[in-house]
Amino acid sequence: MAILFYSEVDDPEPWRQAFARDLPAIAFRVWPDVGDVDDIAYALVWKPQPGLLKTLPKLKAILSLGAGVDGILADSELPRDVPLIRLVDAGLAQQMSEYALYGALHFHRQMHVYALQQRQVQWRMFEPVPAAHRSVGVMGLGVMGSDFVRKLAPLGFRVLGYSRTPSALPGVVSFHGEAGLRPFLEQTEILVNFLPLTGETRRILNAERLAWLPRGACIINLARGGHLDEAALLAALDSGHLGGALLDVFDREPLPPEHPFWRHPQIFVTPHIAAWAVAEVAVSQVIENIRRVERGEQPLGLVMIERGY
Ligand code: NAP
Ligand code: GLV
Repeated sequence: MAILFYSEVDDPEPWRQAFARDLPAIAFRVWPDVGDVDDIAYALVWKPQPGLLKTLPKLKAILSLGAGVDGILADSELPRDVPLIRLVDAGLAQQMSEYALYGALHFHRQMHVYALQQRQVQWRMFEPVPAAHRSVGVMGLGVMGSDFVRKLAPLGFRVLGYSRTPSALPGVVSFHGEAGLRPFLEQTEILVNFLPLTGETRRILNAERLAWLPRGACIINLARGGHLDEAALLAALDSGHLGGALLDVFDREPLPPEHPFWRHPQIFVTPHIAAWAVAEVAVSQVIENIRRVERGEQPLGLVMIERGY
């Protein structure tokens, strides 16, 4: 029995070593050295080449190297009868929360305004806004969003949350569904996106929805580039409607050198690093899921393929 590793961004070596230590019974193969396809019972993948997974006839499960599975579901030839399993936290939530906390404090303390002033050699002081008068809107209240909300709460912000189905996190003013989106955005000054990318959430932040945000609002997108209409964001920043954006994810990654985001004075770009799976931390969950599949039990993080997350 073998597991096939495929990722163009993750180093396979720490995963190979962790498997050799914790599950030596399974051979660890790294694409393109697939070997005999009939041996491959598991695929551990990040954005696999479309069509690759259907060439593995004995697959028992597809294991995502991330929390999001949009890069796997994008494969039109994906074998849909094979269970698809994502990472559930596995060390990612702490990293996501750190990134989002950094961004929320950056915009709350108006660092985006002071960064512009520095470029213009300007010394202008703005009275700080108390955290209790600042609203942070969190889109997606799953594993990542709820971890962020818990870590944000002690800072005293007014926290709003948005999900598909109703949620009742303590201290969060909750909104859900299509009807909840407008009132949620209208009251959000710092928007933090933790949604999965699905048919329903693609371009959820389009020109119309960005216009619902209050003037001066800022956006932190650490979910997926496909959530945001990039041209609409540029227009909203350039018109002065939005104040700034911290972006970790993009329609095209790596972000092409000619992309206007790189040089925009109100956009802060990071290269999809908000969180990634560290083998040493995440391997135990992956191995536990393989053991569960072998025992015929339900794995943790089984994706509902029809729902898209
Ligand atoms: P999760 O536990 O599945 O949570 C998803 C949340 O989104 C749930 O609250 C869900 O609502 C909500 N949601 C789904 N569809 C919606 C819709 N149409 N309208 C409103 N809310 C909707 O996922 P997670 O583990 O928190 O991960 C979230 C995402 O973070 C991943 O999919 C990935 O894209 C992103 N991510 C990015 C990085 C990075 O490095 N940038 C790293 C890790 C993850 P319900 O509660 O009602 O189901
Ligand atoms: C990273 O983007 C993930 O989905 O884990």
